[in-house]
Amino acid sequence: MPDLVSVRNLVKRFPLGGGLVLTAVNDVSFSIGRGETLGLVGESGSGKTTVGRCLLRLIEPTAGEILYEADSIAHLTQRAFRSYRPKMQAVFQDPYESLDPRLTVGDTILESIALWDRSGNRRQQRDKLLHLAELVRLRPEQLNLYPRELSGGQQQRVGIARALATDPQFIVLDEPTSSLDPLARAEIIELLIQLQKELGLSYLFISHDLMTVRYIAQRVAVMYLGHVVELGETRSVFTAPRHPYTQALLSAVLLADPAARGKIKLLQGEIPSPVNLPPICPFASRCPVAVERCRAEMPPLLEVASRHQVACFRSHERQGAFVDWFELAEAGRNGGQGTTQPAEAGTPGAG
Ligand SMILES: Nc1ncnc2c1ncn2[C@@H]1O[C@H](COP(=O)(O)OP(=O)(O)OP(=O)(O)O)[C@@H](O)[C@H]1O
Ligand SMILES: [Mg+2]
Repeated sequence: MPDLVSVRNLVKRFPLGGGLVLTAVNDVSFSIGRGETLGLVGESGSGKTTVGRCLLRLIEPTAGEILYEADSIAHLTQRAFRSYRPKMQAVFQDPYESLDPRLTVGDTILESIALWDRSGNRRQQRDKLLHLAELVRLRPEQLNLYPRELSGGQQQRVGIARALATDPQFIVLDEPTSSLDPLARAEIIELLIQLQKELGLSYLFISHDLMTVRYIAQRVAVMYLGHVVELGETRSVFTAPRHPYTQALLSAVLLADPAARGKIKLLQGEIPSPVNLPPICPFASRCPVAVERCRAEMPPLLEVASRHQVACFRSHERQGAFVDWFELAEAGRNGGQGTTQPAEAGTPGAG
């Protein structure tokens, strides 16, 4: 699959004043092929949205390269970037917030169409509106409604239609279903998959919901504290996660007892602050298998298997998971010492 969008060594820092610098994205590299979905997962604050916003030049990257096909776009002036804008779109989490309550759904979508279609041909724009409505499965009469008259799922269809109005090739989907109920969520995911097939779209799919990512994404990148710590084909990352952080995230989801999922906290301690971070493994402070080297150096993202990269000094030591997070959690719950003593042979849900 030839790459449509790539980022190389992307960095985004936010100066906070007083000499403090928050590094939201730290040396991130990945690529997305034509017609491909890359899932981007990680805890809140790990930098997922910042990556998406940098890619679309909604905020300015501090350093690094962004390629659209072969074109370098990270440091173009906003004026020069304008010709790329219609090709790269976004759909955000809260559809209602991103819609103008004073405009009907039809006028909202028409506005986007007219912004990029300078022909001024009303008839042509109206035809395009009807075509987009059909694509996102909105009925023509729903175009006369106002956003508040629609369900959350229908509002998100409007958000998707508006993104499609410029004939994009690439869409950043930032938690596009997390504000929806389960039925609407499933419908929107199916719609996104269908649209991808019909239009050959590439997606960066940002989500907390690992099971949805497993369903929709061909490859997945796991972020922690601004770093991509694991990147690979979805099947490979989900069945044989190599980074202790990915293993923890997956263990939490795979926990047999659904009631226990929310209660058991596998990761001990808090995520460190992303302000003035030292150049060491970002996960070292919470990692049960960290060694001295992890607290002294930054592990590079290296290929450990075919199309599967991991940033962990210890990932080569075991095939599959080498932290039994279930056992650690159990030991922690029972007040045992287990939270600091990893069971190295455990392979929860890993093959
Ligand atoms: N404009 C800003 N100024 C300062 N810090 C920011 C700014 N935007 C984001 N951050 C910080 O950057 C880090 C990454 O934030 P980001 O929103 O990208 O995370 P996220 O992975 O999308 O989280 P969530 O899952 O909660 O959406 C956080 O520490 C956040 O507080
Ligand atoms: Mg976010």
